[in-house]
Amino acid sequence: MDTIGILGAGAMGSGIAQVAAAAGHQVVMCDHLAPALHKCTKNIQITLKQLVDKGKLSDADAYALNSRIRFSDHMSDFKDCTMVIEAIAEDMEAKQISFKSMEAVVAENAILASNTSSLSISAMGANLKHPERVIGIHFFNPAPLMRLVEIIPAIQTSPEIADKAYQLVTSWGKIAVQAKDTPGFIVNRVARPYYGEALRILEEGIADEVTIDWAMQTLGGFKMGPFELMDFIGNDINYTVTETVFRAFYFDPRYKPSFTQKRLKDAHYWGRKTGRGFYDYREGAAPRALPNTDSQLGDYILKRILAMLINEAAEALYLRIATRDDIEKAMVYGVNYPKGLLTWADEIGIAEIVRIMDTLYVEYLEDRYRCCSLLRKMANDGTQFFDN
Ligand SMILES: NC(=O)c1ccc[n+]([C@@H]2O[C@H](COP(=O)([O-])OP(=O)(O)OC[C@H]3O[C@@H](n4cnc5c(N)ncnc54)[C@H](O)[C@@H]3O)[C@@H](O)[C@H]2O)c1
Repeated sequence: MDTIGILGAGAMGSGIAQVAAAAGHQVVMCDHLAPALHKCTKNIQITLKQLVDKGKLSDADAYALNSRIRFSDHMSDFKDCTMVIEAIAEDMEAKQISFKSMEAVVAENAILASNTSSLSISAMGANLKHPERVIGIHFFNPAPLMRLVEIIPAIQTSPEIADKAYQLVTSWGKIAVQAKDTPGFIVNRVARPYYGEALRILEEGIADEVTIDWAMQTLGGFKMGPFELMDFIGNDINYTVTETVFRAFYFDPRYKPSFTQKRLKDAHYWGRKTGRGFYDYREGAAPRALPNTDSQLGDYILKRILAMLINEAAEALYLRIATRDDIEKAMVYGVNYPKGLLTWADEIGIAEIVRIMDTLYVEYLEDRYRCCSLLRKMANDGTQFFDN
């Protein structure tokens, strides 16, 4: 079986190493920092022990999986790898330097992949001798548990490499979708309004955090409300992704970050991991306020956020970022949405989504609320995303 290299032994690298080793591959895990390698070794051992304790893995399988992962502080150990997945810090210069070093070591036909969440894959391959073998393979956190993987061919990537990457991650039990090399790919682009519109509703004083979370969770069926989710992801990370997407889209107001979240980031109110975020997680913290369960208010919040999400999904389809089915799968398996957004649009009615968007646009006169032309055309033609 092929040997897989992983560069970067952090949260993502260790998860991906575990996935590849579980599928039977030999894995070479490389990091430039010895403490990072040490921590990764420990984390993988802890995770495997938990799986054994829960009865999900036998002792022998855990031992075999663990022994398939080799740790190294030098990229020359990638020489026998048929694919290397880069998962170092989100920094284009560092990634470009790493890709050059990887190319110097691996065989001519080895695939060089990046797990970047937001950077251009085309730029990563630009200075290489063989940019046609560079591709984005975007796992979600935690990689062993999240089923979605976005495959992102760069403009230089050969179709065979994209096919190989697709087949490989599918053989690892993942659900693969293909996205164009554009900011945020599918999930990190389409999901932005879940946070951004919730923050806007909060900032305008229409409802507080608990009420918005209640509306999205209880009425909408989302696993977590937006504020609970931002606290879970970390306001530092979630804010940075929004800001990166906003810049990458040439400051499109649809992706505008929020000062409320920026201040939380500045204050290190990052959420669960620092004890405080939108909510207080410290021991002895006062109980959360109760939501305002007025059904009209709840319905307004849910419809407004949902319409913005659907508008974003429709725009991604309209601009051919991904296929209809891949957009649906991406939101269900990448962020656990209760159903695909385009399916949801059909259920609510395309004309109703257009009406909500237009009402917001007329109220605010902001480009942020412009309705996707695909939705408008569909409403005029009386068509749906899916046949009944
Ligand atoms: N954390 C997430 O939720 C998540 C989800 C999907 C994708 N990503 C992407 O995955 C990548 C890694 O993210 P992470 O959260 O695992 O980061 P992390 O900070 O946990 O780990 C990065 C690791 O890379 C190592 N490293 C940095 N520069 C290096 C170099 N030049 N050579 C070798 N090793 C180097 C660091 O020592 C560290 O161990 C980023 O591109 C990120 O955008 C992150």
